[in-house]
Amino acid sequence: MSVADEEWTQRGIDVNTPSVARLYDYYLGGKDNFPSDRLAAEEILSVVPEVRIAARENRAFLGRAVRFLAEEGIEQFLDIGTGLPTQGNVHEVAQEIRPDARVAYIDNDPIVLAHARALLRGIKGEVTVASGDLRQPEEILQTPEVRKHLDFSKPVAVLLVAIMHFITEADDPRRIVTTLRDALPSGSYLVLSHGTHDNRTEAAKKGTKVYERANSPLVLRSRTEIRELFDGFELVNPGLVWLPEWRPDDFPLYDDPSQALIVCGVGRKP
Ligand SMILES: C[S@@+](CC[C@H](N)C(=O)[O-])C[C@H]1O[C@@H](n2cnc3c(N)ncnc32)[C@H](O)[C@@H]1O
Repeated sequence: MSVADEEWTQRGIDVNTPSVARLYDYYLGGKDNFPSDRLAAEEILSVVPEVRIAARENRAFLGRAVRFLAEEGIEQFLDIGTGLPTQGNVHEVAQEIRPDARVAYIDNDPIVLAHARALLRGIKGEVTVASGDLRQPEEILQTPEVRKHLDFSKPVAVLLVAIMHFITEADDPRRIVTTLRDALPSGSYLVLSHGTHDNRTEAAKKGTKVYERANSPLVLRSRTEIRELFDGFELVNPGLVWLPEWRPDDFPLYDDPSQALIVCGVGRKP
């Protein structure tokens, strides 16, 4: 174990169990991962090499969606499952268009929180970070940092980007989204991306198997099931589509958009 890994262990970070946040960091070419993560990630990439591009497409979608919402006048963002800080973080994208945009970052992975807090040190008060578990959405909504930071009498965009596929059926994904939706005023938005097994079913099974030893299992769903998560929201154009198909502003990274493995959409609460 390297000195750095030992330091993390002393801070209570489990470096031996692959973490979904660190796996994603590895796909994106980040450095905040440990040997257990790299081994699992390489195993996944050997069966589903598109995962690396899917991760990049997912970040690109997140950026386009936040830009779209800021242009629509949204000034408040609740980003649940924010991930390790990388390029194009939500506050950076939103504040390019709305310098006063407020962002609350939530994650349940201690290493994500440690890095996010370090990144945000020295940033002015429009951004906050707090620990929270999406499986308890009521608690997230009541978190003092969230309540202090966001005004739920005005529209808020809730970002559930590449996180709902870590929620099992036992944790009732539809209830989670409904709880968040009911706390939002009219004119609020849901941004969601989610892995699907509709294509590449065999490879998806093998990839899912590797995630069984990670800190969260991977639960891929059908497009129909993912569409149901937007219940009570009106999908904005172009609806629920593969990542590169959502309001593209650049050339796609590949010809077949289904290779992005993840579908996405943005819904508006009427
Ligand atoms: C694949 S990353 C996505 C990061 C970012 N949203 C993006 O799309 O670029 C998933 C993130 O969700 C977090 N996560 C997974 N399950 C969670 C839960 N139940 N509650 C809060 N965060 C969770 C992980 O720690 C990780 O940071």
